[in-house]
Amino acid sequence: MKFQYHVPTQIRFGKGVAGEIGSVVAAYGKTGLIVYGGSSIKRNGVYDTVTASLKEAGVTWYELPGVEPNPRVTSVEKGAALCKEHGIDFVIAAGGGSSVDCAKAICGAAFYDGPAWDLVEKHLPVTKALPLFVVLTLAATGSEMDAGAIITNPATKEKSGVFGPALVPRVSFLDPTYTYTVPARQTAAGTADIYTHTIETYFDSAKDTYFVDGVAESILRTCVKYGKLAMDEPDNDEARSNLMWASPWAINGLIGCGRNEGWTLHGLQHPIGGWYDITHGEGLAILMPHWFRKILSDKTVDKFVQYGVNVFGIDPTLDKFEIANKAIEATEEFLFGQLRIPRTLGELGVDDKHLEDMAQVAAAGMARAYVPLTKDEIVELYRAAL
Ligand code: NZQ
Ligand code: ZN
Repeated sequence: MKFQYHVPTQIRFGKGVAGEIGSVVAAYGKTGLIVYGGSSIKRNGVYDTVTASLKEAGVTWYELPGVEPNPRVTSVEKGAALCKEHGIDFVIAAGGGSSVDCAKAICGAAFYDGPAWDLVEKHLPVTKALPLFVVLTLAATGSEMDAGAIITNPATKEKSGVFGPALVPRVSFLDPTYTYTVPARQTAAGTADIYTHTIETYFDSAKDTYFVDGVAESILRTCVKYGKLAMDEPDNDEARSNLMWASPWAINGLIGCGRNEGWTLHGLQHPIGGWYDITHGEGLAILMPHWFRKILSDKTVDKFVQYGVNVFGIDPTLDKFEIANKAIEATEEFLFGQLRIPRTLGELGVDDKHLEDMAQVAAAGMARAYVPLTKDEIVELYRAAL
């Protein structure tokens, strides 16, 4: 095994931590930009708590509301312009992954002279950015503790990432009580996102990953144990807390240490997100069983056995392929039975008009995949998922 691991984000976790934000950001300057989406942070008290804390610390702020789920590059441009115009010292993202991603990209674009989309399209690693602080309200993406932001450009039908060490949030405030108001469908999608980040890191050809496999299995079991519970009992603190703490560890690099990190499912889902405005976690969940069935073979069956036995408690004495198929069925029962996620892309409004275009993009990202798929295989997989 050989790797480097460094995640400098400080986590402040628990009820009431967002009230500490003023004293934290005051060390970075006098003027902030708060980036958020629709009205959820005004309904659940996040906005009032954050702004009261900033006032108390003598910090002033500007605001960028209206960040879309699947944030658009136009919102990034707006935020970067505000930063340049008002000499913003730091950015606060308040909301789910879309607000965090938009804020992250703004932090980088604030120091970039060209169009913000360049950072995504040219894969310019961001090494200089405004400091970012996060008040998270949805357990899903892990953006609160990673170096990436996923941005959509409707003009080019692209959804892709901007990455760089300077984008990692300085401090993320995780208060599980803020997630009590997340609707059941969004809770399911978020849980599926955490689950998928873990799955596609875990299904990897690297050897000697016993320790990180165990951490990954624990994240998967956490999703299975608490996803449905959080939907059925929105204010169940045990469920919300465990999901919120599992979220960053699925993607902050720990469980990827020593692996190839091919990330096939996100590579399949993001091109769909470029063409159709679908909920990220739902798209991933729908694709997962189709991907599983495509990659199950003599070469991969042992990993399926490990997954089935350690996550779903399937009898290890059964035939290997029987265990693997039971593991896929148990995954389906979890995603579509317990989490009640729609089973088909068609139900999300995806049709068969752009399968070739989407598959072309996805096929170009297969270099490090666990099992590389050709463009034709991807079209077939998309079609089966429709
Ligand atoms: O806009 P508001 O009013 O805040 O409502 C949001 C939005 O409608 C709502 N919501 C959030 N917190 C809430 C709440 N509603 C009630 N109570 C709360 N406490 O939920 C809806 C979805 O929010 P969004 O931020 O879009 O969801 P999510 O956190 O799933 O983020 C999805 C985005 O993150 C990207 C996805 O591609 C997608 O664009 N990802 C980012 C990653 C990263 N940076 O590392 C990795 C992921 O794989 C993913 O690609
Ligand atoms: Zn994701």
